Amino acid sequence: MSAVVAYLDVAATTRVEPRVADVVLHWMTEDFGNAGSRTHEYGARAKKAVQEARAFLAGTVGVRTEEVIFTSGATESNNIALLGMAPYGEKHARKHIITSAIEHKAVIEPLLHLQEKQGFEVDFLEPGPSGRISTEGRAGEAEAGHSARLANAREQ
Ligand SMILES: Cc1ncc(COP(=O)(O)O)c(C=O)c1O
Repeated sequence: MSAVVAYLDVAATTRVEPRVADVVLHWMTEDFGNAGSRTHEYGARAKKAVQEARAFLAGTVGVRTEEVIFTSGATESNNIALLGMAPYGEKHARKHIITSAIEHKAVIEPLLHLQEKQGFEVDFLEPGPSGRISTEGRAGEAEAGHSARLANAREQ
């Protein structure tokens, strides 16, 4: 990409930091063992590198190492997060989801699945011309209901 181009869609993707690209290239072209393989040294080396990366990331964002889960990308992550919470919603009768109508399809599609196949109520709120979602209407009602439930829970 030419130096004069200003790429503004960095919420969707961004240039990889060259030091990161160097490390990734090394593990993809030199030490490319499968970190899940238990029977050879290549796998053991890859597994150690994954563990070190997980520990580094956990320390950086302040979570436990077992809370860091590597996925292939955003679509997989969104599906795991949204479809993965469904059993909790079913169990605790929390089956109302409010989202923005302009979410990426990797968010919209699992939510449509929950709505159409698993009986969730999903509100897709339209943002205004500035891109903001008003707290009036459906989002406001849900927030008010949530605050009332929280207040009730605190009183008990
Ligand atoms: C919010 C969001 N979700 C999902 C994706 C898809 O990402 P991936 O190609 O990593 O699955 C994108 C990519 O633009 C995105 O912006």
